[in-house]
Parts: sequence; structure tokens; C-alpha cells
Amino acid sequence: MSTVLITGGAGFIGSNLVRSIAHAGQHRVVVFDALTYAGNLENLAGCIDGSAVSFVHGNILDADLVHRTMELHRIDAVIHLAAESHVDRSIASAAPFVETNVAGTLIMLEAMRTFGVSRFVHVSTDEVYGSLEPTDAPFTERSPINPTSPYAASKAASDLLVLSFVRTHGVDAVITRCSNNYGPYQFPEKFIPLMTLNALEKRPLPVYGDGKQIRDWIHVDDHCSGLLFALEKGRSGEVYNFGGAAERKNLAVVNEIVQLTGADPALITHGTDRKAHDRRYAIDATKAHNELGWTPMWSFEEGLKYTVEWYKAHPEWCGHVRSGEYRSYYEQHYKTSL
Ligand code: NAD
Ligand code: TYD
Repeated sequence: MSTVLITGGAGFIGSNLVRSIAHAGQHRVVVFDALTYAGNLENLAGCIDGSAVSFVHGNILDADLVHRTMELHRIDAVIHLAAESHVDRSIASAAPFVETNVAGTLIMLEAMRTFGVSRFVHVSTDEVYGSLEPTDAPFTERSPINPTSPYAASKAASDLLVLSFVRTHGVDAVITRCSNNYGPYQFPEKFIPLMTLNALEKRPLPVYGDGKQIRDWIHVDDHCSGLLFALEKGRSGEVYNFGGAAERKNLAVVNEIVQLTGADPALITHGTDRKAHDRRYAIDATKAHNELGWTPMWSFEEGLKYTVEWYKAHPEWCGHVRSGEYRSYYEQHYKTSL
């Protein structure tokens, strides 16, 4: 049984991935996470047992701790999700994005070289491709890298570093670029959980600009299955796009959430647009289908319905996240480290 280090494993996608690996029982997992505002150990409640799944509280910028973790846990593979991930925050302050997403990825790559880690899955985003016009073909892996936001630029820089390590040092690494995820345990600064919780709490639903921006939504389970396919079957030095084949205008998504929650449509407000707001993302995932055998399982309608039900059914998680109480969960439950 191999041991996989999952950076950012207490975040939204990371925690869903850890749960799915733990459920399948295929690999031992070591979660390495700094527990920034986006990290929440409550996402992994009942999962961390110190054997099949262990937790290291650490920052990927702490090279010594990364090295000690790799050595002590004899890490075979890394799935690297730790990142600053929110576009609006990157517009307000870009420095943490360059530090964690670029410098942090470099530290992870150096560490994998030093400890002979056999595979590195670098979890990137379709946002590195920039914005599409309404009639453009969806992004393929050969689309130009043309990021708009500091977040997307920092992810693009990290992708190029990964490819440089494959070419220069011969490390084994694959890059995945996925479209917008939604699902359980997503922090409510992102569009779908924010709108869902606001709708349930009868608060305003703040749509940026005209709300006609298009995102290609994918259920987080489908992204996680893609990451496991990339881990097992991806070819080193290759990029794989994942998308949910569900292009929707933001306004259409809010309207669906309004229907699913029974909220008053008058709660929808149109505010100032985001700076340099990308108009459209759409993914061509043919390569992942053909080479990895990956196919998304969720339809957007079913996935969104299930997700809204999940938020309704988890008032405690939502309450802790809204109040900030989730930040003390680590001290209360797990304060042990390496
Ligand atoms: P998230 O913000 O929910 O989680 C990020 C996690 O990384 C948190 O647990 C946080 O504590 C941890 N982290 C941040 N900085 C760290 C550091 N310096 N050291 C250690 N841990 C640190 O993000 P997410 O939505 O789960 O995204 C995970 C990854 O997937 C990111 O790399 C993101 O770019 C990528 N991605 C996200 C989406 C999406 O729609 N959410 C789509 C495509 C790709
Ligand atoms: P977001 O979840 O931040 O993802 P990304 O910017 O990475 O695509 O936003 C998704 C879309 O929703 C994006 O077009 C911006 C828009 N949006 C709003 O209209 N209002 C909001 O409050 C937020 C957070 C996002």
C-alpha cells in the first residue's frame, strides 16, 4: 500500500479527496495543511485516525517540515492542492498567492526530488487559460496560457515550474486543470456555497455585474476521481483538463438555488463587477476521457440539488464556518503534530 501526501487536504477539494481515498482504502494518506482561513479540520471529522489518515499541521513554505514529513512518513506520491484559491482575495492582495502557490510549489518539487517521491500530481485550474468569448471552442490542453487574475497568474507560474522540473530534473509529475467545483464542505466565499447559505438565511444574493458570466461547473466528486486517475494513469509531463460539461450563466445558477431553497428572488442584487472579470470558461476534457478513462458522473442539476440538501442537512458545519468557530476545531480536537 502506498502513502500519498495530500497538501491542502483540509480545504474543500482536499477534504473530499481524503474522504474518498479513505473510503476506498487503497492508499495511506498524510494530510499536510497550514489551516489558513480556508482550511477546516471539521471537514475531516471522523477521518483522521493517525494510521490510514494522519494529519500534519504545517505550511508548505516550511521546507524543513516538508522534508521531515516526507522522510518520516515515507511518502510515495504527492497530490498537491495547497494554495490560496480565491480570485477576489488575489485582487485585494496578491503576495500570499505568489508565496504559497509559486514559492510553496517550488519547495514541494525540491522535496520530492530529494526524497525520490515517485509521482507528483499538481492540481491546477482552467483559469490559467484566461477568458473565452461566447463562440470560442472550449479550452484544450494546448490553449495558450493567458491568465487574468493574480490567482490565475500564480497558478500558471506554478504549472510552468512543474513542467520545468520534469524537463530539467526528470521528476515524474502530471498537471490537472479543472473547471469550477461545487459540492459539500466548500467555504462560503465561493459562489455556490455563498449563494446557498445566503438564500437559506434570507440574506442578499450578490451577483457581480450583469451575471451573464459563464462557468463550467463540476461536482467535486468528479474532480477527485479525475485526480486519482491522473495519479494512477497520467503520463509524466502531461496536462489533463477536467470539466463537468455544464456551462451555466451565474444568474441561471442563482435562480436554480433560489428555487431549490425556496428563497425570495427579490434577494438577488446586482453589484459592482469584479475587476477584469473572466467572461467564460469551458473545458474540453477529451484527453482525460481518452487517456485516463475518466468521465464525470454527476449532472449539474442533480449535483446542485444534492449540494443544497447537504448544506441544509449540516447546520452545525455551516454555523461554525459562518461564526469563525471552525478555526478553533484543531485546538479542541487534534493538537498533535509531527
Ligand atoms: P481551498 O481554499 O478550499 O483549500 C486550500 C487548502 O490549502 C486549505 O486547507 C488551506 O489551509 C491550505 N493551504 C493554503 N496555503 C497553505 C500553505 N502555505 N501551506 C499548507 N497548506 C496551505 O481550495 P480548494 O477549492 O479546495 O482548491 C484546492 C486546489 O484546487 C487549489 O490548488 C486550487 O487552485 C485548485 N482548483 C480549485 C478549483 C475550485 O473550483 N475550487 C478548481 C480547479 C482547481
Ligand atoms: P468564484 O466562486 O469566486 O469562482 P471563480 O472566480 O474562480 O470562477 O466565482 C464564480 C463566479 O461567480 C464568477 O463569475 C464570479 C461570480 N460571483 C458573483 O457573482 N458573486 C459572488 O459573490 C461571488 C463570490 C462570485
